[in-house]
Amino acid sequence: MSSRERSHHKGSSRSTRDLFGLRGFLFGSADSRASMKGAWEATLRRPVAHSGWSSCFGGIALFLFLIQAATGILLMFFYIPADPEAYRSTLYMAGQAPFGWFFRIIHHWAGIAMMFAVSLHVLRVLFKGAYQDPRDLNWIVGSVLFFLTAGFVLTGDLLPWTRSAYWSAEWWTSLVGSFPLIGHQIMLFLRGGENVTGSTVTRFYVFHVFVLPALSTLFMVLHFAMVRKLGISEPL
Ligand code: HEM
Repeated sequence: MSSRERSHHKGSSRSTRDLFGLRGFLFGSADSRASMKGAWEATLRRPVAHSGWSSCFGGIALFLFLIQAATGILLMFFYIPADPEAYRSTLYMAGQAPFGWFFRIIHHWAGIAMMFAVSLHVLRVLFKGAYQDPRDLNWIVGSVLFFLTAGFVLTGDLLPWTRSAYWSAEWWTSLVGSFPLIGHQIMLFLRGGENVTGSTVTRFYVFHVFVLPALSTLFMVLHFAMVRKLGISEPL
């Protein structure tokens, strides 16, 4: 075999092998159609703007959000959002389902940690004055994300349907109900009636696993797009 033939042979076996490897697939056969290599490089090789240690909290919040999504999906396999199954299915999940106790603990603590990370992130943005023009719109988008994160904590808290979960939902929804004019209507909407019942559990479940994740994803995309466009603010 001539050296030209050998190199041709080597090239064709590599391209066959590349079809089955992730790198080859992304940067080889798929790339020739969708030019992903350029897109990846533009994204990954973009230099990171100046940022101190306090700029890590937004990224930590994102990381914890992803953990919540992954562990939450696993918990959904066992949880039943109704009265009295909510309580029983939580007990089953924690005691009998394989690794149920583990994913429940991770979901519980990562939820609290996310609220904490978001709060530290807001304090950083506040003390560094990063909310000012041109990042004022991102501050507003961020404020929505703050309330969505709090929504996850408040709705998730009721789902085990324990006595303390019942009373905490009863307390904060009554607080909402005491707001002038529209408070009572909002409370009825949240509870699905005058009282906290099994319907409230079903409602909070829908908010927790569908409405809040969908809205959070949408607002995070906006948030990150603006961070990418404007960069991280210079220190004051
Ligand atoms: C789910 C919640 C949130 C996530 C995952 C998130 C994530 C991030 C990330 C990754 C950054 C870039 C790095 C950094 O500065 O930390 C950022 C920047 C920013 N965030 Fe958030 N964020 C969240 C909530 C909020 C909230 C509640 C606010 C304010 C009310 C906010 C306002 C901002 C602003 C103004 C910037 C630009 C900061 C600068 O350029 O110095 N974010 N966010």
